[in-house]
Amino acid sequence: MARQFYRHEIRRRKSEGGQKSEFKNFNQFMEKSESLKLLEDEMIGDKLLPLRESNLVFGEGNPEAKVVFIGEAPGFHEDRLKRPFVGRGGQLLERLINEIGWRRDQVYITNIVKRRPPENRDPLPEEIEAYRPYLTRQIEIIDPKIIVALGRFAMNYFLPEAKITRDQGKVFDVDGRLVVPMFHPAAALRGNNAMAQFTETMKKLPDVEAMPRETMPRSESATKKPLHPQSRLF
Ligand code: URA
Repeated sequence: MARQFYRHEIRRRKSEGGQKSEFKNFNQFMEKSESLKLLEDEMIGDKLLPLRESNLVFGEGNPEAKVVFIGEAPGFHEDRLKRPFVGRGGQLLERLINEIGWRRDQVYITNIVKRRPPENRDPLPEEIEAYRPYLTRQIEIIDPKIIVALGRFAMNYFLPEAKITRDQGKVFDVDGRLVVPMFHPAAALRGNNAMAQFTETMKKLPDVEAMPRETMPRSESATKKPLHPQSRLF
């Protein structure tokens, strides 16, 4: 996937008149791809991880992505294809990623729990904890600027006290990264209001990315408070 993405990027940039020198990050790109592959292999071999009756859905996308989308856990289609967000919710997510001018393979997409819970039940706290060290390392390797937390489980993973209806669309500084909680695409598909807010927040993500970090207000408690506690950033 990573090599394929890199080749695609090279072709795209060349067709836009880019020079070879633009690809000086090749080594870093390959290092990250290989580190992610090693991490995936380690997870496959970890017999202590729960939900081992399902396939591992590690995540996919650009290993150097500035933006990482993180959902809850794979569902039926994701388990079958071993790819995150490929069902109806994933199609919505991908459509909106395209609508804001990005491509799915430019960002990185994964989940907090990387195997499907039976009957798509909510992930248990101990399952989330068991997968935590791996997600932590995955994020460290990619080193994104922005984490988009899809749904309350992903949101509470980073912001334990946040409430999805109150806090979706706000921007939080969590240990130096920007975390933007959003409704889960499945919730957006269930309700008009959630869909409207999901779409609205999504459309504003490119602005978050462009915000110069040094002009951002610093929050007292980096892990708990939104950068703009009183108002939505967008
Ligand atoms: N829901 C999620 O949270 N993640 C997926 O990958 C698919 C559905």
